[in-house]
Amino acid sequence: MNVRKDFLSLAIPDISEAEKNEVIDALNSGWISTGPKVKEFERLFAEYHGVKHAVAVSSCTAALFIAAKVMGIGKGDYVIIPTVTWQSTANIVEQLDATPLFCDVYRDTLNINTGDIEEYIKKYGKKVKAIIPVHHSGLPADIDRITEISESHNIPVIYDAAHAVFSSYGNKMAGGFGKMSAFSFYATKNLTTGDGGMITTDDDELSEQCRTWSYHGLPKDSWKRYSAENASPHVQSIVPGYKFNLTDIQAALGIAQFRRREDLLSKRNYLVEYYNEILKDFDWIERPVFKTGKGRWGNHVYVIKILDEDIDRDKLMKELRTLNIGTNLHFYPVHRNVFYEKKYPDVTLPVAEWLKDRILTLPLCTKYSENDLKYVADSLKYIYENKFSHKSILI
Ligand SMILES: Cc1ncc(COP(=O)(O)O)c(C=O)c1O
Repeated sequence: MNVRKDFLSLAIPDISEAEKNEVIDALNSGWISTGPKVKEFERLFAEYHGVKHAVAVSSCTAALFIAAKVMGIGKGDYVIIPTVTWQSTANIVEQLDATPLFCDVYRDTLNINTGDIEEYIKKYGKKVKAIIPVHHSGLPADIDRITEISESHNIPVIYDAAHAVFSSYGNKMAGGFGKMSAFSFYATKNLTTGDGGMITTDDDELSEQCRTWSYHGLPKDSWKRYSAENASPHVQSIVPGYKFNLTDIQAALGIAQFRRREDLLSKRNYLVEYYNEILKDFDWIERPVFKTGKGRWGNHVYVIKILDEDIDRDKLMKELRTLNIGTNLHFYPVHRNVFYEKKYPDVTLPVAEWLKDRILTLPLCTKYSENDLKYVADSLKYIYENKFSHKSILI
């Protein structure tokens, strides 16, 4: 096997001249913190997702935190989340002194098991103050069922749409469902601002509260203060807010990426189809599900499952690393993270437990070519057929 010289990391950002020019424009404008570019980015994002409001913040974690905060989640409350997610989904619940209720996921879609949601509501009743499902890999969760549950029990839903910038469900974009959705623009996401996030909602009051809480608790954000109609010499905090704003430099990146969205998404979709094709004869691997009846996927990450239980997934990751391939896990179940395992030792979720040692995320991003993906498939085959038969990666 010829080992490639350069490292193929999980993903790298796709930055073109358009992004660079937009950032230079922000730098030259004399306004580099939250200003007109953020306003424009929010306008484009809200319009695209078919919602009244989009509030830009510094990360999806901040978006989830602020969304939960303005919904009044606090001490003594319970919040239902899937365990197969990034830690943020649970961390923000803990930070608000509430308790996360970890649900299992469906093995095929990796999305929250709606039966588990109902079980928790039966058990904890009115103490359940919110449900935060994740659209894993950009594949929308079972929004129809989640909406029915939410409406019949009057429990609001905040979607963790970190992966779902380009995802839709039925004839609506993912950001148009639930009370609010929270998006991520982290460096490797489908649309990046380096770091950044967005809250979408149709609720006027909640959106205004999100702005206030994410910017020092001020009723007007800083750039508005300088406009003729809002100029005010002494803005005051009306709540003890946080500083979670996005800057114009970041929003400039986001605007340019947004304008390239069709190109970015079609390239991503093409690469996923290519992976599906070249991995189809690997009977020891299960390929990801990217389509459901109504869900139009965003193809954020390509997560395979290692079906051959004699393979130690961690050793396989190491072998891939020696061939200059970076991989990751989406996700190691949160309830099995040190903090959560200590605090909630009795949580048992069989699908997540199985996935914990079986999932593996392969490199995928719009900067990669068919050759890059072919190298990954060839490497998997090489390791399986050679190292595996030499028993070096047997458990
Ligand atoms: C499902 C999920 N939720 C939340 C986050 C947090 O996003 P951010 O890094 O923008 O805070 C991530 C990050 O990757 C994620 O994958």
